[in-house]
Amino acid sequence: MQYGTFDDVRREYVITRPDTPLPWINYLGCEAYFGIISNTAGGYSFYKDARLRRITRYRYNHAPLDLGGRYVYLRDDASGEFWSPTWQPTRTALQDYTCRHGQGYTTIQSSHAGITAQIRYFVPLGENLEIWQTTLTNQRAQPAELSLFSLVEFCLWDAQDDSTNFQRNYSIGQVEVVDEVIYHKTEYRERRDHFAYFACSEPLAGFDTQRDEFLGPYRGWDNPQAVAEGRARNSLCNGWQPIGSQQVRLALQPGESRQVIFLLGYHENPVADKFDPPGSQVINKRGVLPVIARYRQPTVVEQAFARLNHYWDELLGRLQVQTPDLHTDRMINIWNAYQCMVTFNMSRSASSFESGIGRGLGFRDSNQDLLGFVHLVPARARERILDLAATQLASGGAYHQYQPLTKRGNNDVGGNFNDDPLWLVLGVAAYIKETGDWDILSQAVEYDNQPGSAEPLLGHLRRSMQYTLDRLGPHGLPLIGRADWNDCLNLNCFSETPGQSFQTTTNTEGKVAESVFIGGLYVLAAQEMEGLLRHLGLAVEGQAWLDAAATLGQAVLGAGWDGGWFRRAYDAFGQPVGSSENVEGQIFIEPQGMCVMAGLGLQDGRAAQALAAVQQRLATPHGILLQQPAFSHYYLNLGEISSYPPGYKENASVFCHTNPWIMIAETKLGHGDLAHDYYLRINPSAREGISEVHRCEPYVYAQTIAGRDAATHGEAKNSWLSGTAAWNYVAITQWILGIRPGLEGLEIQPVIPQDWPGFKAVREWRGTRYEIEVERQGVAGAVELWADGQRIAGNLLPLPPAGTARVQVRVILM
Ligand code: BGC
Ligand code: NOJ
Repeated sequence: MQYGTFDDVRREYVITRPDTPLPWINYLGCEAYFGIISNTAGGYSFYKDARLRRITRYRYNHAPLDLGGRYVYLRDDASGEFWSPTWQPTRTALQDYTCRHGQGYTTIQSSHAGITAQIRYFVPLGENLEIWQTTLTNQRAQPAELSLFSLVEFCLWDAQDDSTNFQRNYSIGQVEVVDEVIYHKTEYRERRDHFAYFACSEPLAGFDTQRDEFLGPYRGWDNPQAVAEGRARNSLCNGWQPIGSQQVRLALQPGESRQVIFLLGYHENPVADKFDPPGSQVINKRGVLPVIARYRQPTVVEQAFARLNHYWDELLGRLQVQTPDLHTDRMINIWNAYQCMVTFNMSRSASSFESGIGRGLGFRDSNQDLLGFVHLVPARARERILDLAATQLASGGAYHQYQPLTKRGNNDVGGNFNDDPLWLVLGVAAYIKETGDWDILSQAVEYDNQPGSAEPLLGHLRRSMQYTLDRLGPHGLPLIGRADWNDCLNLNCFSETPGQSFQTTTNTEGKVAESVFIGGLYVLAAQEMEGLLRHLGLAVEGQAWLDAAATLGQAVLGAGWDGGWFRRAYDAFGQPVGSSENVEGQIFIEPQGMCVMAGLGLQDGRAAQALAAVQQRLATPHGILLQQPAFSHYYLNLGEISSYPPGYKENASVFCHTNPWIMIAETKLGHGDLAHDYYLRINPSAREGISEVHRCEPYVYAQTIAGRDAATHGEAKNSWLSGTAAWNYVAITQWILGIRPGLEGLEIQPVIPQDWPGFKAVREWRGTRYEIEVERQGVAGAVELWADGQRIAGNLLPLPPAGTARVQVRVILM
């Protein structure tokens, strides 16, 4: 069953009924001003940091779902009937409801009582504001007298404090309303130098800024008294809950359309220039008045929207493919790349499943997000790498996260995850492969943001590599620390106290529990490190890291090998985890994927054996499970992983982040059919037809799909913010289609399904546009390459002379 359809030409997902199984969201903004918006206009906005600069309020876990957002109400002033053209919050039955989620914008349209309303929400490039471009059309044969009400509820900036500290917050709310613009200025009188504003293109019949005067006592968003009576109160908020609502009266002739523009914005003033006149308590508005004046004009708004679309044409144009498979094309050409931008911007902070107050930018997560983002806006990837590296600790370890606003690392979600530093090596290597910007390695970067501690980025990578070697356990495998990639495999935790966080509770010292996964990750990172060092003329050092990796690799193939697959770990008592010796959790997906990606076991058949075990024990029609058998009870020595009921999250769901590792591993064995089959099992577009089972958005990946032990096998959760986005993008584009940026050239090595006659792709790389045509002539998979008609030996297209605009690439698969 479907709740909408893809419009690939307009790059939109078109939702055709408002009651989707869950709110199906989109993101507004791609630079500094951001918002999440659902298909019924729910959601909230923030500036840079979803916790510390929250502009509008939102309550999660609400019943009914998804209440609070960017609402407008329409009222027929003749009959008194009112409704929400975005369905929520009144949930009046609507005709012709559609919600079009596109790249950085959402348009919701509907008709009711002979009035058509369309609202396009977007954030113009380069601005700290959002626009609600509202068009009303009277389809009646009679004139219509209407009132249009807007509504936002302001958050008192720090979203955590806002939702907890009521004894203070009910007394601090403040606004100004000047020339029909509503300014939200809570705490501006003291230490804040930022405020929000809400403006409208039309003269107002009234406004409200005090929530309970607008709603009326004990009434909800679905039935505000001001709307019901068609009369805004002109309330001025003092304490309690500041809102912004405007009332516009419109008389529309039959067939007449009118546009009303609402602007919600954020602005910061220089501290010395906060007040106007100086010494007063009145906001200095000189910075925002010209912006408001500009965006009140429909032509300016149209131009801003066209610029946003053009921006996305350009970004998505960097890699476009034409394959025999619609779902592959749609995800690569549009949605997966778009999701990579969103995960880069948000990390794991704000979605329908991430509250915006829990997590900032993760060290491990952001480095992986780079893998799928780096070709879109390389300059931003560079900045992110340097920010991340500056939170690295002098030990080579890393804070697990930092807040985007402060860019300082913190231990709020725990520390001592021993895999963290190695992801930096992968992130930096991917950046240099994409850009050829070798200079980044000599950029001086501090440790833990401490003045005086700076050393070139290359030194950070060295410390990342050394960090693992300094922490080896009894089997010569890396110590796991608090956890590795799998945050829930807590081998040193032993938590028995209800409510205790598995992430932050005290660990035992942890000199025994080891991770096979980190062993594989190290071998992969060492290969990247060696490539970088060789290019810099430091081949001897590069070889030394490879030698260390070879020793570790021996440990992985020794104590890390279970006989039929790679083990997962050793627990704090030195007992294997992910072994046939275990009763539950005998085989885990992560080490099979990571070790084979690192090349371990490729020579001696063990890689093939491990992947066969994955296919036999872990693969389901809904994707590949994280481990089996699922843990049926809580294991003190394993921690959070066994806290989830079987089939959910880390306890044996299809944890989608890990599936592309197996796809990549399969391509290493030349198995294009199986790799692509696995790809399609979790591809959201391919699952669109079972939306009643999948339940999350069919246009983006979710973190998990409930496993076969779950009551709801096939049900997705945690959509949007997951490393799944970047890794699937890498798997399909670089390993299955096989177009792979390298340090010294573009590698071409497709491993595609046998029944594909070929495919076409356009890839912009380091300033050159590669027009690639792949044709299958045989089944063995060997590649014959031509660049502009010249036969190239091997599968590496060397860098063309500087300034080459276009290279025609012909690829024959033999
Ligand atoms: C989740 C993990 C997540 C971790 C973050 C756990 O509860 O299951 O997926 O990585 O929290 O702290
Ligand atoms: C989500 C976290 O953000 C990520 O860092 C972790 O690797 C996975 N969960 C697996 O636990």
